Amino acid sequence: ERVAHLLRASPKAELHVHIEGTLEPELIFALAQRNGVSLPYADVQALRKAYAFSDLQSFLDLYYAGCDVLRTEQDFFDLAWAYFQRAARDHVVRVEPFFDPQSHTVRGVGFEVFMPAFIQAAQRAQDELGLSVGWIVSVLRHLPEEDALQTLDAAQPWLDHLIGIGLDSSERGNPPEKFARVFARAREMGLYAVAHAGEEGPPAYVLGALDVLKVERIDHGVRASEDPALMQRLAREQMPLTVCPLSNVRLCVVPDLAQHNLPQLLAAGLKVTVNSDDPAYFGGYINDNLTELFAAQPALGAPQAYALLRNSLEASFAANGDKALWI
Ligand code: ADE
Ligand code: ZN
Repeated sequence: ERVAHLLRASPKAELHVHIEGTLEPELIFALAQRNGVSLPYADVQALRKAYAFSDLQSFLDLYYAGCDVLRTEQDFFDLAWAYFQRAARDHVVRVEPFFDPQSHTVRGVGFEVFMPAFIQAAQRAQDELGLSVGWIVSVLRHLPEEDALQTLDAAQPWLDHLIGIGLDSSERGNPPEKFARVFARAREMGLYAVAHAGEEGPPAYVLGALDVLKVERIDHGVRASEDPALMQRLAREQMPLTVCPLSNVRLCVVPDLAQHNLPQLLAAGLKVTVNSDDPAYFGGYINDNLTELFAAQPALGAPQAYALLRNSLEASFAANGDKALWI
């Protein structure tokens, strides 16, 4: 209980959250009504009941469908501002949210619609909540590299408001190597690089993200534990892993929280962080992820709580001056 309180009340960074994954069913219905979009669900409860996933793809299908209600600048502002207020309640002081431009541009909604909203919401979060925000533009790996290069072109005018490039969507069959040119260009543009790897995909995808994309964090990475040499390397390089326990359970990456390998990853000396991924779909925000994991795992106590919270702040891409305030 003492540790749960420490976890909930301590300053922390959220380093793996998709802003589209914070779209709560209530907001989906409100935006559908506002925009005259009809939904194939009777009400909020019916939609929530559909959130029973068997793997990553079964989730992504609903996640991209949910995006369809996001049409106007106001919609994106309401989405981001609602999330920032929710994150501040969990004592998040720094958040580096992903956004998926291609899930919007494919519907004719461009950067000129969502970027001003994201910028304004971030400014308000800083001013009113003391919450520091760094946006990560994420490209969809199930689409061709050429589409990702075009997305990077479209992001160029907004570069001052972006901190990194990410890689998400259907992992299996879409290895990191497919996006070598995109990540090389993004790094030339001054963006930090991160990629989802080792969620459903094999340890080889984590290696590809490190060696070919030259990422400075691995998103998920839980399957690294299948490869002892990779584990040693991740520990030696202190490569941050943004682990998302409730996501892993909901997407059947692990059977339940009690069997999650996060304690082993920590014990092996890896720089592990706890994050929420798509909290509107997976049943919990960052404090829920932390406290439910600790409740399920007797091996986790105060030392691990302290390490996870400190890791989250250290692994952030915030300026060193900001980090010095938090750590
Ligand atoms: N997009 C949103 N959440 C994701 C996840 N957990 N893995 C891959 N792509 C995603
Ligand atoms: Zn994710």
